[in-house]
Amino acid sequence: MDLELAGKIAVVTGTSVGIGREIAKMLAAEGARLVLIARRGELLQTLRQELEKSGAAAPLAIAKDLTAPDAHTEVRDKVLAAFGYIDILVNNAGGSRPLPIDAPEDAWEEAIALNFTAVRRLTHAFLPTMIERRSGRIINITGTSEPRGLNAAYSAKAAVYAWAKGLSREIGQFGITINSLAPGRILSEQIVNRINPGDASRDQFARDNIPVGYFGEPQDMAYAVAFLASPKARYVTGEIVHIDGGMRRFAF
Ligand SMILES: NC(=O)c1ccc[n+]([C@@H]2O[C@H](COP(=O)([O-])OP(=O)(O)OC[C@H]3O[C@@H](n4cnc5c(N)ncnc54)[C@H](OP(=O)(O)O)[C@@H]3O)[C@@H](O)[C@H]2O)c1
Repeated sequence: MDLELAGKIAVVTGTSVGIGREIAKMLAAEGARLVLIARRGELLQTLRQELEKSGAAAPLAIAKDLTAPDAHTEVRDKVLAAFGYIDILVNNAGGSRPLPIDAPEDAWEEAIALNFTAVRRLTHAFLPTMIERRSGRIINITGTSEPRGLNAAYSAKAAVYAWAKGLSREIGQFGITINSLAPGRILSEQIVNRINPGDASRDQFARDNIPVGYFGEPQDMAYAVAFLASPKARYVTGEIVHIDGGMRRFAF
């Protein structure tokens, strides 16, 4: 199946490591022209070189903290100056933020700023150009909605769901779709270093919680992104798709 992604301009946030890096590689392999964004510019440069070596068109790399107040306008202006428009926006940058009940205010604010406000701002910054072209694909990488405890990222991702559903009803008439992909446990920097360190603990977690019996790979997310980014996914919007090996327990 041709996903018709050749030549599309795709902005992917959080591309220095993990899921976002793999999404960028897969969209580039499908022929898209990439914009790479994260704070660690040196990692973006290695990805840029890797993509160019594989024959992809030269990506634009923007080293930026997406929680900075000017991030959304700076990214939009650089992308539009380079390409004039955007076809695909993948809001991937984010991360888990388990917090104690007496966590300071700024810990909550940082988590909401990264996992919700930055997503909303960047999307709205690109909406006028998508509306003008009557076409666009927006994909949010979210996370579980079954809290195991207090985690500010869960609250922020829940806000993404409510915002994205509402927005889907406003922008459908312009040929723009917005969907969310919720990873379960995907092997990435934050999972390996912080959340589930150690093979033995991961194996135990997988046995206890994941019906297919193993953690996912970033490619498992990237395949789903490639489909939702395609013109072929025109009739899917306002949805949440769980990519979690069956970890989510609810039928609906
Ligand atoms: N892996 C999982 O199992 C899992 C589970 C649930 C949800 N998720 C979600 O999936 C997404 C990707 O997660 P991951 O596991 O791949 O995480 P990761 O390995 O920690 O990568 C996170 C990416 O986001 C970027 N990022 C973080 N803060 C940023 C900021 N302030 N400004 C710009 N970029 C920033 C990081 O780059 P820099 O550090 O270079 O800025 C990095 O590229 C996140 O939204 C996460 O919440 C993942």
